[in-house]
Formats: sequence, C-alpha cells, structure tokens
Amino acid sequence: MAKRTIVKLPGDGIGRNVLEAAIRVLEAAGFEADYVEGDIGWEFWKKEGNPLPERTTDLIEKHKIALFGAITSKPKDEATEELAPELQNKGLVYSSPIVGLRQHFGLDICQRPCRTYKGNPLNFIRRGADGKIEEPQINTVIFRQNTEGLYGGVEWSNPDDQVYNALMTHPKFKKNFGKTPREELAISTRIFTKKATERILRAAFEYAKEFGFESVTVCEKPNVIRETSGMMYKMALEMQKKDYPDIWVKNTNIDAQMMWMTKNPEDYGVLVAGNMFVDIASDGFAGLIGGLGFACSAQFNPDSGIGVFEPTHGSAPKYAEYNTSIVNSIAMIESACMMLDYIKEYDTAKKIRKAIATVIEEGKVRTYDMLKMRGKPDVVEKGAASTDQMADEIIAKL
Ligand code: NAI
Ligand code: MG
Repeated sequence: MAKRTIVKLPGDGIGRNVLEAAIRVLEAAGFEADYVEGDIGWEFWKKEGNPLPERTTDLIEKHKIALFGAITSKPKDEATEELAPELQNKGLVYSSPIVGLRQHFGLDICQRPCRTYKGNPLNFIRRGADGKIEEPQINTVIFRQNTEGLYGGVEWSNPDDQVYNALMTHPKFKKNFGKTPREELAISTRIFTKKATERILRAAFEYAKEFGFESVTVCEKPNVIRETSGMMYKMALEMQKKDYPDIWVKNTNIDAQMMWMTKNPEDYGVLVAGNMFVDIASDGFAGLIGGLGFACSAQFNPDSGIGVFEPTHGSAPKYAEYNTSIVNSIAMIESACMMLDYIKEYDTAKKIRKAIATVIEEGKVRTYDMLKMRGKPDVVEKGAASTDQMADEIIAKL
C-alpha cells in the first residue's frame, strides 16, 4: 500500500511542541506516513496578511488528512497593529484560520470524546449519599456543529441601512433596540441550516448506535432560542422516531447542563449541539477528565473525506517561551489516535491509547498539570515531566 501523506499544521506557540511529540509517538507505534508542513497562524498573518495561505488549503485538499497543533488569535484591532508595515492600511481584517479551515472545507462534524482515565489525579470526584468519595466514570462523546451558529461570522457593528432596515421589520428588534443609536449596536447572528443540523444529528445518532450508547442528549435552549435550538431539538425527535427507536433523546439546556455535568456526568453518553454551546459543554466535560491536557478532537467532512485532528486547547503563548516545553502532550496524541481511527488504522490507535492509559495509571511520569503545579518554567526541575518526556514514556510503553 502506498505510504500516506499527512499534512502537519503546527501553527503557533505550544501547537508546535505537542505536534512534534505526537508525530514521534505515531512513528514509534509503527504508523508509516510522510509529513508535509502547512503554513498557518499568526506568523503568516503578520508577514502575509493571511493566517491561512492558499498553499496550505491546497495541501490539505490534496492529501485530505491534517494534524493541527494550535494557533494564536487576537482581537481585530490588535491583529491589525501587528501586521507588517507594508501591509498596514490595506483593509486587511484578521479572522481565525481554524474557523476559516472549518468553513473552507465544510468540516461540519466535530467530535470531542471525554473519557475518564483510570488513575488520573485530575479526575472529577464527588461525595456520595453515604458520605464516601465517588469517582464517576465519564464516557461522553460530544458532537459539535462546527461551521454555523454563533461562529458563522455573520456580524455587524453599526450596521448599514439595508441590514438595519431589515432588522427593524422584526417587532422585537424594533421594540427593544429600535431606539438605540445605530453606532451603538453590535450584532452577531446565530444561523442554523436544516442540512447542517441534520448532518450533525445523524453523526451523533449513528455514533450512539454503533457504539451502543443508550441516549443522545441535545444540549441547546429550545425554550428560549426557539428558532435555532427549537429546530435542532424537533429534528432530533423526528430522526429518533424514524430511524433510531432504541435510542433515547434527552433534552438539556446548556446552562442546566453545566450543573448536571458535575452532579451526574456519568449519565451523559452522546451529546450534540450547535457550535457555541458545545464549545462550552466540551470544555466543561474536559475539565472532569483532566482539563485541556486531555481534550482531543476530530473534525471532518463526510462527503470529501477531509479531516483535521487537533487538541481543543490553544497555543498557550506564555508557555511557548519556556526553554523546555512543559505542556501535556496527551491531548494532541489522543487527537492523533482519532486520526488513526478515521483512516481505519484501528490497531495502531488502540495500541497508543493503551500505552497512554498505562502511563497514566502507573503515575510515575506526570506533566505539571497532572501534578497540580502552576505552569512555571521550573516545573521540570521540580519533578514534572516535560511535553517530550511524556511522549517518551508513552513510546516506552508501546
Ligand atoms: P489555551 O488553551 O492556549 O491555554 C489556556 C491554559 O490552559 C494554559 O495557560 C494552560 O494553563 C492550559 N493548557 C492549555 N493546553 C495545555 C496542555 N496541553 N497541557 C496542560 N495545560 C494546558 O487558551 P488561551 O490562553 O485562552 O488562548 C491562547 C491562544 O490560543 C489565544 O490566542 C487563542 O485565541 C488561541 N486558541 C486557539 C485554539 C485553536 O488553535 N484551536 C483554541 C483555543 C484558543
Ligand atoms: Mg474552545
């Protein structure tokens, strides 16, 4: 079989460190691939005025599979200030390249599993009715609609006549905002389409069916956000009735979900929602299994087959300046395992996950977050494993 080519997108800050560590683990596990590097991130914004150059999307288009570290994003005005002098005043406006990547390739299905690792000192614990400490086993797989909703980018400040007049046709806008001066208005839309909603729900139900989950939780807010959340919930009920009679549909509101999450997280299997609410819920669930050092994700387009695999954490710029990288590489390595599953290299993924589980359970090698230290440059001196040492230990277990 021809060797596969994987596009590696290190991006910014610690993205580079964790990605290199993950590739070493993949190689040690016997996964054979060539890697080509794609340019993405802050450096390219500053130099070229584009954090996602076309040559990068071309590479991904060609090879289909990408491993992504993390990027740095900054607010609009700060971004403009950092542009190279020759690019100033050209009307360039920064927007996040990872959001851009999702939209460019229609990577509308995002999957974020949150599973408890045995022996992880960061696991969520609670007190049971008998006063004893309980450590619930969390096995929640979260499906995020990845391209629409509040992250769709349809926004205005001081909207022009056309937009303003259209909004004024809505009685609630007219009543509640009609007297506000236009230049004091900032508007972000939350657009859901039936097609994308159907696709994310289908992905969630199919996953629940394949892996034997008894429920799919729709985590929106249909009682208040009637049009978008309401549509998703209604479509979920219809889909369940028609195609998944054995799966139970639960309806939770995002706010209540954040409370249920710490009361009875073990009750949630597959969870699905729009872009923003899942971003909230998945960080919440990630906190129960150890935080950003453990939170992995896959995003893909089932039609084109293009998939991008990344930890959910960002570039943690402060830590990127340390001589030795201290952040936990497990989130990135787990994301690489999701890539392996996606390309049906199940055995290699299983092998790596087993090695990770062994390292965590043994507890001899732990990064600073697992030791509940504050992230400082001297944590390695104080006994924490570095990004690379964690990867080395996983490799040793392979
Ligand atoms: P962040 O995820 O980069 O870091 C927040 C904190 O989480 C860190 O200070 C650290 O304490 C902890 N952390 C993150 N990754 C860790 C790891 N692997 N191991 C242990 N601890 C870890 O989020 P922050 O500080 O809000 O954003 C920094 C930059 O990253 C911003 O420019 C932001 O826009 C960007 N970002 C990019 C994302 C992406 O590339 N997909 C996602 C989130 C943020
Ligand atoms: Mg997030």
